[in-house]
Amino acid sequence: MHPVFSHARSELGPAWSQALLDASKKFASASLPVESPAQTVEVDIHVERIQDGVKELAEEYSRTGVALFNYLGDAELPVHPLLLVGRLLADEVGWRSEVVHPAEREDARDGTVKLYHSPKWLGPAMDSSALAVHQDGFGNAGSVESVGLFVESGGARAATTYFTNLALVVRNLMLDDPTSVEGLFAPDAIHVTSRRGSSSLRTTGPILFLDELDRPAVNFRESDSDTVVSIREDLLDMYHYLLSASRPGASGVLEVQFNQTGTGVFSNNRLLVHGRTAFTDGERQRRVLARKWWSSYAGFERPIKVPGFRVSRLYSEVLNSDRVEGEWIFDEVSGLESRVR
Ligand SMILES: [Fe+2]
Repeated sequence: MHPVFSHARSELGPAWSQALLDASKKFASASLPVESPAQTVEVDIHVERIQDGVKELAEEYSRTGVALFNYLGDAELPVHPLLLVGRLLADEVGWRSEVVHPAEREDARDGTVKLYHSPKWLGPAMDSSALAVHQDGFGNAGSVESVGLFVESGGARAATTYFTNLALVVRNLMLDDPTSVEGLFAPDAIHVTSRRGSSSLRTTGPILFLDELDRPAVNFRESDSDTVVSIREDLLDMYHYLLSASRPGASGVLEVQFNQTGTGVFSNNRLLVHGRTAFTDGERQRRVLARKWWSSYAGFERPIKVPGFRVSRLYSEVLNSDRVEGEWIFDEVSGLESRVR
């Protein structure tokens, strides 16, 4: 039994109300992975038959929103296994850009970001404590389409990493009552503020939207040690419902222990949210994951820092489409964001 949610459609004005209704209808009828991430089947990737393996991965990715694999090849390849598999998968599923993150210049310089417990505090992703429910690429206007992760070594006590297709959860609510989720399309449904002094950023956007390619997209996270989330008051009940649907143990949630070297996953970051429980490193068993991002947008090779989202032309007038270019900062004193580049 789903809870009943109220929302303030009338507060948004007639032009937006129409755009919102159009978008929510399109969201309801758009194609999505039909199965939840928990239904995915892990694929063995043998290097000598890699194309067959990648074809299977592409099917799993389309069917469940995730592609879980076990890499059974030579670790001494000139290309990192995550990049080798990810580049072939990109051709199959239509990712257009490989995102080069600044952190790839550090550590091994093999074209992946290394995630591990750092003695310096570099943000929640570089900590061994639990990671709140989130999507990767905060401030990237919703441009990070897919997150690839690969276990280089497991920790002494493994964490559970969990993946939820929130778009599918919402679709199920829509089947019962399409009006119950309309408020999630409001342009000010969720504010997320990252307080990091001179690199602070606040994003404002809908929780559900259609992206520039008119595909369904989700913008969702919970507060963590680095970011503060605030939700439109009339959407709070719905927000908490979605949060509870995203936790380990909820129906359809994929839970993975990344403790075996060679295990990897690609997750649809436009539709899915993910999080992680805490882990413990052993003296000789340090948990290290490699990460790589891909985008469906051509020319998106560098991460950006903007307060808006790349949305369908349906919205471009109401949804601050000028706020997806350049580089922005949020001034905590004035409470305003401004473009600095
Ligand atoms: Fe993440």
